[in-house]
Amino acid sequence: MCGIVGYVGRQDAVPVLLEGLQRLEYRGYDSAGVAVLKNGTLRTHKAQGRVRELAAELPRRVAGETGIAHTRWATHGAPSDRNAHPHTDAGGRVAVVHNGIVENAAELRAELAEDGVVLESDTDTEVLAHLIARADDELEAAVRAALARVTGTYGLAVLDAREPGRLVVARNGSPVIIGVGEKAMFVASDVAALVRHTQRVAHLDDGELAVLDAHSFRTSTFDARATAKTTTEIVQRPEDYDLGGHGHFLRKEILDQPEAVAGTLRGRLEPRFGTAHLGGLTLDARELRAVRRVCVLGCGSAYYAGLAGAHTIESLARLPATAEPASEFRYRDPVIAPDTLYIAVSQSGETYDTLAAVQEVRRKGGRVLGVVNVVGSSIARACDGGIYVHAGPEVSVASTKTFTCTLVAFALLALHLGRIRDLGPAEGQRIIAGLEALPGQIGRILAAEEEIAEHAAWLGEARGAFYIGRVRGYPIALEGAQKLKEVSYIHAEAYPASELKHGPLALVDEELPTVALVPDDALHEKNRSSVEQVRARGGRVLAIAHRPLDGLADATVVVPRSEPELDPILLGIPLQLLAYHAAVALGRDVDQPRNLAKSVTVE
Ligand code: AGP
Repeated sequence: MCGIVGYVGRQDAVPVLLEGLQRLEYRGYDSAGVAVLKNGTLRTHKAQGRVRELAAELPRRVAGETGIAHTRWATHGAPSDRNAHPHTDAGGRVAVVHNGIVENAAELRAELAEDGVVLESDTDTEVLAHLIARADDELEAAVRAALARVTGTYGLAVLDAREPGRLVVARNGSPVIIGVGEKAMFVASDVAALVRHTQRVAHLDDGELAVLDAHSFRTSTFDARATAKTTTEIVQRPEDYDLGGHGHFLRKEILDQPEAVAGTLRGRLEPRFGTAHLGGLTLDARELRAVRRVCVLGCGSAYYAGLAGAHTIESLARLPATAEPASEFRYRDPVIAPDTLYIAVSQSGETYDTLAAVQEVRRKGGRVLGVVNVVGSSIARACDGGIYVHAGPEVSVASTKTFTCTLVAFALLALHLGRIRDLGPAEGQRIIAGLEALPGQIGRILAAEEEIAEHAAWLGEARGAFYIGRVRGYPIALEGAQKLKEVSYIHAEAYPASELKHGPLALVDEELPTVALVPDDALHEKNRSSVEQVRARGGRVLAIAHRPLDGLADATVVVPRSEPELDPILLGIPLQLLAYHAAVALGRDVDQPRNLAKSVTVE
């Protein structure tokens, strides 16, 4: 979704801003723009479409030492040049880029119009530029005055032609990160735009404002009380955001999984005691023993990972565990039980619905742990503690390696919770051995890419597909269907295999294939019978199994066997390759599927 980049320093701001915008493209956007200040003159250029189109339209001589830039994902007003950011006041003196939503925009627009201000766009953001300019004060004070009139969420960056060499940024619910460079300061809503320039960053907190010049920055609360801010080193590397010879980030990230899973496990296994060491939990053994129930919250694939994680916790820790879409939870006025442990799952750590669910739990006195990939993200910071997934940056919109690594993180948490309760050390060591084997086993599945691509060719010709699995397999079926939908645009639905006969079977015929998860577990025979039901109606079946199924399915992808609690992690891998190759065969934009954004920071 929307992205912010800002620069103040001695170089020309334009190339820095354009490169930063390119780094944010993966988040999804519909238009882009830049504003730069040179010799007291503000120049703004905006274009609907890609950053490269904006770059192509920029006059050669545009340059500046201070600048802000933006990629927009439309909320108020259609995608267009006019609605793209930066927005300026009527005099073209103040420029603003903004992520988030000004909730009282309609009221403020009406008020400005009554005062004779002509609004040039349909956006909520434009009111900020007018309010700041009309405060007619020093930029910092003017931004404070404008924000006092605004309700809603924002990460924003502002420049003023009267104050060259200065940027003012503010945060309320949408990330703002300051990058500290050599005689230069950078601003971004995502570290992806900073990694090429600096490794030292400071995260603004909600309700904070910062004033930056080329040499320093200072932070304060909205009511002007100075705040102390420490900088931290970022873990991301520039090459994480390069294709590295792959055609798509999606394939790069799928193939990266042995390494990514090793990253999730690194330093966390304690084979001697058959347990996992998780330094960020902030709850000691006594507090964790007092937990009576677990409720996992997340959206989309993070929710599906949460469903799988809840199963693992229930199996290993024998604690009742459920998962719920965070987007629903936050609106149903949930009862927050003091002995329930809430767990928020998110790759980006910025998903607005998940963040709002975390805030709802905390408002009611509940405790939330995060299972989050992006270090220092809003959700990670809003939780009481948690586990970083450490999958590395995920650029493709469709989640793959983070999904897998989130399941691994849940296995670690389940092991830890189990060992605090009734799981014996030998059982713990069994799980640890299973976890240690995962990277190699994933590598073996990935080596079968060519064979899986052949199955994807016929799946890609179908009008739709069913994905079925039982109990532990069901969340994996949900995620498999989600992947196919997202990147190939083929309609795919997941069902518990046991539910087929209760309705969906009516749709099965020669044209609707089914992808069936048939692991060698206690439910193997039940799964076989579901496959038979589909084939009896003429439906083609691709099975994902632990051994060849002797003609039961039309085709079978064999995956290595793990421990039963960990099998879902491996069963999901072929489904990612299946979706990827189906999408490539159909010529889809696999890394940036239509209508989707990497991190959904609005409602
Ligand atoms: C995953 O492929 C999707 N792009 C989407 O469902 C995603 O998982 C969801 O929006 C939650 O994102 P988060 O993990 O960043 O919170």
